[in-house]
Amino acid sequence: MRVDQATASRASAKRRAPAWPTPDALRRIGRTPLVPLARLQARFIGVRLFAKLEWANPGGSVKDRAAASIIADAEASGRLRPGMALLDASSGNTAVAYAMIAAAKRYRAVLCVPKNANPRVQALLRTYGAEVVATDPLEGSDGAIREARRLAAERPDEFLYVDQYTNPANWQAHYRTTAAEIWDQTRGTVTHFIAGLGTTGTFTGTTRRLKELHPLLQAVAVQPDAALHGLEGLKHLASAIVPGIYDPALPDETRFVSTESAYAALQDLAQAEGLFAGSSSGAALAAGLDLAGELSGTATPATIALIFPDAAAREAASGLSTSLPGLARQPS
Ligand SMILES: Cc1ncc(COP(=O)(O)O)c(C=O)c1O
Repeated sequence: MRVDQATASRASAKRRAPAWPTPDALRRIGRTPLVPLARLQARFIGVRLFAKLEWANPGGSVKDRAAASIIADAEASGRLRPGMALLDASSGNTAVAYAMIAAAKRYRAVLCVPKNANPRVQALLRTYGAEVVATDPLEGSDGAIREARRLAAERPDEFLYVDQYTNPANWQAHYRTTAAEIWDQTRGTVTHFIAGLGTTGTFTGTTRRLKELHPLLQAVAVQPDAALHGLEGLKHLASAIVPGIYDPALPDETRFVSTESAYAALQDLAQAEGLFAGSSSGAALAAGLDLAGELSGTATPATIALIFPDAAAREAASGLSTSLPGLARQPS
């Protein structure tokens, strides 16, 4: 009997086994650190500030979670059939995540990317073996979306257009993982959640789950304050194609952040905490510092969790460091 059970369970494990073994890199997606911003929060009374460092994901950004979930869903539903190529539009991090996962799982990936996207990112995509379709730089991420739609309509048997902007598996990744992690890492004390809006997957999924766990939680969405901005990964929704997964009823508040104030917050972060984050993290932090100022000294203690989607490219430092307001020197 025992032997039969063992044989049966081995056989069913075999049936469930994926076509390719899952490389360890993919198992390292998620479970990122939530770190206290101790020096920054010391400026406020009764407010704790935490940042979720999504650059700890193997592909270097929050988008590993969405891409892994989108690909797993396409596999499970049978839509990603042998011989088909995975197709999507992205201006950076999602493309890297798709390319990394597609390489590990041996899928063909075709990625529509604006021609002016970071050349190092484009080189990385090719290193992973992905095919890059360069789109009109003047049309930004919306131009890349239009090109992906065109290719998918033209060759539906060749491409599975997974469309991160309308695919529920995008926000569901954050519903299942990011929210649960923040809840556990704050031991259920989080009162405010802040994230920038790109596809809106991070904000939507995390907020939905956190509000189930804590109905009074305040969710703050962050957008650039203008159509033309330097906040990579974020969308000014009033002037962009609004993602299909976006639910405008979800944010308790939307804060509009200028590129300048996001970069000022990044500089503050680098000097106060020794963290060097990307521009969308700066936008979340700028909104978080404003909120912390408003909550400081009020009757109810607050715990604010911020999403830091990626780290800064090292070359970005030159834009920040020229105007440092004189750090206190340590005696040498
Ligand atoms: C650097 C960066 N920040 C923020 C976002 C926004 O995340 P989401 O697409 O989940 O809204 C993205 C998305 O690509 C990103 O690359």
